[in-house]
Amino acid sequence: MGSVGAKEVPVLLTPDGRRIDGRTLDELRPIRIEAGALHQADGSAFVEWGANKVMAAVYGPREVHPRHLQQNNKAVIQCRYNMAAFSVDERKRPGLDRRSQEISKVIAEAFESVVFAEEYPRTSIDIYIEVLQANAGTRCAGLVAASVALADAGIPMVDLLPAVAVGKVGGAIALDLRKEEDNYGEADLPMALVPQSGRLVLLQMEGHMTEEELARSLDLGVQGCRTIYEKMKAALRERYAVGPPAGGAA
Ligand code: CDP
Repeated sequence: MGSVGAKEVPVLLTPDGRRIDGRTLDELRPIRIEAGALHQADGSAFVEWGANKVMAAVYGPREVHPRHLQQNNKAVIQCRYNMAAFSVDERKRPGLDRRSQEISKVIAEAFESVVFAEEYPRTSIDIYIEVLQANAGTRCAGLVAASVALADAGIPMVDLLPAVAVGKVGGAIALDLRKEEDNYGEADLPMALVPQSGRLVLLQMEGHMTEEELARSLDLGVQGCRTIYEKMKAALRERYAVGPPAGGAA
């Protein structure tokens, strides 16, 4: 531990380029994805990603609530990202704070770019994301879980949406930040990719980095997304090998 002012700052990078948990700069945390984890939802997925635990449930296409959001030419995609009060070290105040609202909005917008919403006019596709345990990168874990849950619900989409955060820690560009790296690092850059087209449909940045570092971060993030994409497809294949739900798509 080094110290800056009153704060204890952990050493984020060893001289040989190892991170706080021993990972290399381009190494993801372990990821486990379970498609169809819930019985009540039309589609669901549970994602354990490092110390993150995130559940996603999808309902729809179904009647729109509140009614005034209904659109005549397409389905509305609604998302509620919520962090459980027990998901973080210091108990979080329950309910939708500004951060949760912002994350819900950017996730819904990311899915608007891949879901064939015009196939279901006057309906709603509702995505619920519950973060049970948080350790940075929960919006990305939420996107991955929701994406697998949408596929599990049989919602037609251009593609799945893998997501990951890249950042700058100890002066180096690193893939998939954990909490200490997110808290004490210089930058955090979550992104979501449409693998087929190579389009990014979510890109946010906190902190600062140079143009050249940003370009490298994007390359590293896209590579990471492609690895996660394979794990998402494998989770869906596994689900369908066990017993396909009616109308599901792999
Ligand atoms: O989770 P994500 O990286 O997408 O979002 P963030 O706003 O950058 O938050 C990073 C991490 O800070 C979260 O994953 C939590 O581990 C932690 N956090 C917290 O401890 N309490 C909160 N109220 C919000 C976030």
